[in-house]
Amino acid sequence: VFHLHPENIHLPSNGFFGKFDNQQLQRGFQVYKEVCSACHSLKYVAFRDLTKIGYSEPEVKAIANQWVIEQPNINPETGEPATRKNVPSDHFPSPFANEIAARAANNNALPPDLSLMTKAREDGSNYIHALLTGYRAQPAALVKEFPGSKTPQGLHYNPYFANLNIAMPPPLTSDGQVTYSDGTKATKDQMARDVAAFLTWTAEPNLNARHAAGVAAGIFLLIFCFLAWGAYQNVWRDVK
Ligand code: HEM
Repeated sequence: VFHLHPENIHLPSNGFFGKFDNQQLQRGFQVYKEVCSACHSLKYVAFRDLTKIGYSEPEVKAIANQWVIEQPNINPETGEPATRKNVPSDHFPSPFANEIAARAANNNALPPDLSLMTKAREDGSNYIHALLTGYRAQPAALVKEFPGSKTPQGLHYNPYFANLNIAMPPPLTSDGQVTYSDGTKATKDQMARDVAAFLTWTAEPNLNARHAAGVAAGIFLLIFCFLAWGAYQNVWRDVK
């Protein structure tokens, strides 16, 4: 009773005829860039994939080049660890050098890669939105019933997270945390929706093509149905 199920956020990509809204994906990317990328990588997504959600090639180049986290790049002469700027073919890097560093910075928890998160969790797209907007004070009734579940120091209560206490501090804390260039008001709810849409895209960038193929196949089958019925009528025309 204390673990809640996400509400449906009705993304435009839902359903047979669903399609991504590139404006929304770009807003979601902005939230990822300005908030989530401080802890989470997108190791299956390359900067150049952003052209598929409406960024131009020069824009992608600039985004990669100015990305705060650089790629590890050992100096070939001295062997010294160093970094280089990202190029469009690089994938979105983790801000941490390795797992030990990541855990050291996160109360011993590991921020997971977010590329496939909307597929890895049940009802993933809705889950991201619910998780991000779900932080709250722990209900007294819960602690009374299960004293062992009291949120430990350094964790945060979130009824949408499977074990209720999550190591991730609330990433979206105030309205207007990012400034959208398309004029959309960046409420917490809006940012959570947009980043959920963006992470739905990272996990299934070919959804538009899949849905279009499905619709085309449906129309074909409908026509085929009439053809088959016509053929049947024709074949049995002389039989009583
Ligand atoms: C876990 C999303 C920002 C640190 C997660 C999970 C998701 C997520 C979906 C997995 C939850 C699960 O296992 O079911 C996001 C999004 C962010 C964001 C969309 C931006 C809006 C951050 C930031 C930090 C962070 C800025 C670091 C300060 C963590 C950690 C975990 C985690 C440590 C592991 C939690 C645990 O296993 O207890 N995040 N995150 N996240 N995130 Fe984030």
